[in-house]
Amino acid sequence: MSEITVIGGNASEVLAKRLAKKLNANFISSELRVFPDGESKITITAKPKGKIIVVNSTYPPVDSNFIQTLSLVTKARQFSRQVICVIPYMGYARQDREFLSGEIITLSVIAKLLVAAGASKIIVVDAHSTLGLKHFEIPIKNVSAVPELASYFRRLRLKHPLVVSPDSGGKERAAEFAKHYGTEYMALVKNRDRKTGKVKIISASLDSVRGRDLILVDDMISTGGSIVKATQFLKRQKCGKIYVACTHALLIDSAGKKIKQAGVSAIISSNTIPGNTSIVDVSGVIAKAI
Ligand code: R5P
Repeated sequence: MSEITVIGGNASEVLAKRLAKKLNANFISSELRVFPDGESKITITAKPKGKIIVVNSTYPPVDSNFIQTLSLVTKARQFSRQVICVIPYMGYARQDREFLSGEIITLSVIAKLLVAAGASKIIVVDAHSTLGLKHFEIPIKNVSAVPELASYFRRLRLKHPLVVSPDSGGKERAAEFAKHYGTEYMALVKNRDRKTGKVKIISASLDSVRGRDLILVDDMISTGGSIVKATQFLKRQKCGKIYVACTHALLIDSAGKKIKQAGVSAIISSNTIPGNTSIVDVSGVIAKAI
């Protein structure tokens, strides 16, 4: 197999190292210095050889992590024409369409910048929507952490489990999780006020969850608002325990605490974003995609 070098950005160093190991590739870390005005100065610690894979998630500080990703891709392009940019968690993925007139689809700006920097292919994990992928003019592969999350949950002893999506947009994800787990699924109906960002569950009362342990499956948790509202609704329907499975646990401010207080027994996420809940490793699925 030809030589491969994985460059780990500051936001994804541990995951990048795991990926390099799986691919039997060279690993290069990057050093980051942030100046008092917020500018990033990034230095790669060795010369990359062969095909290059840049790995960097763009969780908060989102813009800063994007600049670092773009800088690493630009540098990598000086050494190789083949630069795969792995963005395990891709920020701005929710800005995939013009919801309100005049809004800018910033994901399309990001897509153009990655091409301009020299990426020849992009790999993301559980992108928010397939529509978002259409903004990229180079090959983009969306790999899923859902089978790995489902196999983690299979090891827990849940009572007559049911997989629930907090909104209809996540129904297919819930279906995929349920298929891998080997159980049924359903989706709630959620409404988000596009101006205030407030969410409401507008599903009618349901008997089907009574007494059953539930796994709420979502692509990401940001403020925790969606999961808290879904949990409060499901608890009112007299369900059993509620667990949360998500790919990207941003858990802004005290989101984790709010979710636990609402009655969730545990939050399990993947390591696209490092943190206390990031138990499920996605380096294997990324390696397969490469
Ligand atoms: C929305 O469509 C997404 O799938 C997530 O449910 C949402 O972005 C999570 O955000 P928050 O935790 O702030 O409700």
